[in-house]
Amino acid sequence: MIKILTHLCPDNLVDGLTCLDVKGVKYILLKNASGIHAFSALCPHVAGPMDRAEVNGNIVTCPLHGWQFDLDRDGLEINGYSSLKVYTVETSSGHITLSDEI
Ligand code: FES
Repeated sequence: MIKILTHLCPDNLVDGLTCLDVKGVKYILLKNASGIHAFSALCPHVAGPMDRAEVNGNIVTCPLHGWQFDLDRDGLEINGYSSLKVYTVETSSGHITLSDEI
């Protein structure tokens, strides 16, 4: 299991996409009306840059070829392609923690 403690305070996170670099590995945080979500910075197709994804509610669309991932369904690609890696987000003590335990 991967568990990543960030030094980001949830109260300071801006709405929209934030790219997080943890020891050279990038993750994307999305803060929106439904909360804070986290997913891989690389699209599972051919590594498109998910920090430039289009966001529509909890659907994120890769900017390269338009694969669409549903964050409410563990990153499932809505047309049946490979899923986006998503992470569980916990907030406590002013920190955001990511975990790959769904
Ligand atoms: S790289 Fe994301 S859809 Fe092709």
